[in-house]
Amino acid sequence: MGKADLASLLQCPRCRRAGLRAGPECFECSACAAQYPSLGGIPWLFADPERALGDWRNRLGQYLEEFGAATRAAEADRALTTRSFTRERLDRLIEGYREQQRLVTELLAPLRLATTSLGQATQQAFATRLPLSQDLHSYYANVHRDWVWGDTENQRSLEVVQQALGGVRERVLVLGAGACRLAYDVHQGGAAPLTVALDLNPLLLLTARRVVAGETVELIEFPLAPRGLADVAVRRELRAAAPARAGLELVFADAWQAPFKPQSFDAVITPWLIDIVDLDFAAIAAHVNRLLAPGGRWVNFGSLAFPWRRPGLRLSREELPAVLAETGFGPPTLEEVEIPYMRSPASRHSRLEQVVVFGADKLRRTPHEPEPPRLPDWIDTHDRAVPRIPALALAADASRIQAVLLALVDGERSIDELVRIVSEQGLLPADQARSAIRGLLERLYLAGERV
Ligand SMILES: C[S@@+](CC[C@H](N)C(=O)[O-])C[C@H]1O[C@@H](n2cnc3c(N)ncnc32)[C@H](O)[C@@H]1O
Repeated sequence: MGKADLASLLQCPRCRRAGLRAGPECFECSACAAQYPSLGGIPWLFADPERALGDWRNRLGQYLEEFGAATRAAEADRALTTRSFTRERLDRLIEGYREQQRLVTELLAPLRLATTSLGQATQQAFATRLPLSQDLHSYYANVHRDWVWGDTENQRSLEVVQQALGGVRERVLVLGAGACRLAYDVHQGGAAPLTVALDLNPLLLLTARRVVAGETVELIEFPLAPRGLADVAVRRELRAAAPARAGLELVFADAWQAPFKPQSFDAVITPWLIDIVDLDFAAIAAHVNRLLAPGGRWVNFGSLAFPWRRPGLRLSREELPAVLAETGFGPPTLEEVEIPYMRSPASRHSRLEQVVVFGADKLRRTPHEPEPPRLPDWIDTHDRAVPRIPALALAADASRIQAVLLALVDGERSIDELVRIVSEQGLLPADQARSAIRGLLERLYLAGERV
């Protein structure tokens, strides 16, 4: 078993009407002819592969620019200080930032960074958001936890997940697999012929791909609370105990537009995923249900720190069984275990987490199959008139107001003068102009300080 089996489970994430076959790129849909490339040997199975590629390229550009700016800021401070320890710390930091830029550029070479960078202003103006506000540096600490210093935590996580999984599973899917240590451990420790690790972050998955193939990957760790001067930027060598056995497949995709036929898996694992995504628990359950064969098992592992504004969606442990029952699952095994979390030896910061682990079998199909999010035709097809919907009209007005105010900033005028002009021109009521202008300038100033 291996690649052929993965291919037999795939379904076009765009039209959802047919399977995928090997094509000139990597895969192509036999119904709508959509083409899906491969990135560094990993199938790139986003519903709109070009857009996802553009998004991640931008993010890589932004990431490198942020490191460039951080390097320059550290160099500027280095030039100002005469204290030897401070110099030493800044030297380490500068070296770490430079090295990280070089290593990440090399690692993410398959993304083919755009040759002309968009420039900071353009990027800010057109900031794209992948689903679920994931950035390139999101969960970066996980790569070091997974492949350098996290053995106690990794081992404990594996034990509780294996226990919740129960017996042997043939086809396992890990959604939001991150740097893939858990998927690797489950695959190595079990007898599954096929374990698929799915994620959307290229830094995490491209690192994982090389590590599970038996390579050593070098990256710099920047601990949250460095223990000492030497810990501000630590060169790490990431490696696995042994290359993964055949059948561990990595896939780039959005978990909620997962490129698989219904009922493809007999186990789905969601580690540390359900409370960091833009879907509520019932919708997640419906997606997992669709992917599971009858009798298949969903194992969830992580916290329940749901971010929802709506209180009704911030479920507690006790509420999960009822939602599972409504979405076609049997009564779950439900456990709470305490595990150390992100305990880097280079950091003074770590957590002790009360993790919720449940395993639930699929009894029947969810009454309401999840629908992939649909965009209106005027976005999807590129050749229709763009309607001036309220959100766009509002954004246009807001940008115009900002542009008018910022055009008055000429390096000479004070806030008092700006307030006077703006009030005289009737752009803002006099009693609100001062706090509004001060607020905007303060916000932009602080954002600039952070860059
Ligand atoms: C909190 S991290 C957990 C990573 C990994 N499971 C672990 O335990 O270390 C959440 C992961 O979910 C991924 N993720 C978030 N939204 C996703 C989506 N819609 N589809 C696929 N992966 C997603 C992120 O890229 C990240 O790797």
